[in-house]
Amino acid sequence: MVQGRVAKHRILSGPVGSGSAPTLRAAMKRIVILISGRGSNMQAIVQACAEQAWPARVVAVVANRPGAAGLVYAAERGISTAVVDHKAFGQRDDFDDALAAAINIHQPDLLLLAGFMRILGAAFVSRYEGRMLNIHPSLLPAFPGLHTHRRALAAGCKAVGATVHFVTPQIDHGPIVMQSVVPVRPADDEHTLSARVLASEHLIYPLAVRWFVNGMLQVQDGVVTHTGGASQLLV
Ligand code: GRF
Repeated sequence: MVQGRVAKHRILSGPVGSGSAPTLRAAMKRIVILISGRGSNMQAIVQACAEQAWPARVVAVVANRPGAAGLVYAAERGISTAVVDHKAFGQRDDFDDALAAAINIHQPDLLLLAGFMRILGAAFVSRYEGRMLNIHPSLLPAFPGLHTHRRALAAGCKAVGATVHFVTPQIDHGPIVMQSVVPVRPADDEHTLSARVLASEHLIYPLAVRWFVNGMLQVQDGVVTHTGGASQLLV
């Protein structure tokens, strides 16, 4: 079941090419963002897109939880929002199909997972191969999955970080676009460490998305490079 919410600014998610500058608008990349909660990474991307005048637009934010706080932020900015509640589906594939339907009406060029806490099936992932990014709060391939900061502290890591990567069917795995490295301080607990990593996420995810929409990323043999040679590491 797809529960459409907030159609009040539908014009922003309408077809490209209309209006007074059709050539420019036709080049705009359409971004759909999936969230499950507060959506601070989504907010960082929406803000960077507007402030830096990317050739792109966040056309929709879709959540799998009706109470996802990030939906309010998106709706207030006139971005189309929808909820596909995973609890309404008995089968994972049915959820994936409904989610894809809610996404595809927006005809995205790029699909972003931003704190989206559902595992997506291989068939879903293959639909968006090469145009779906995720951010994970660890230095992948270390610590895929949940509780990354707790596990990093327990392992005595001296540095942690975050990774933006293309999504593959394997969870928290795929060609790495950019990573941040963040020090672990002696007094850190899960909360302080996650806050420090999150601040770096808000820098690297918008940057990686900007590179994508500007066509600056290439993937060869599973390795992502920036065509202009920009550093893909934030330290
Ligand atoms: C972030 O740490 C992200 O890396 C992880 O979940 C968290 C989501 O935070 N996948 P937010 O919803 O973007 O604020």
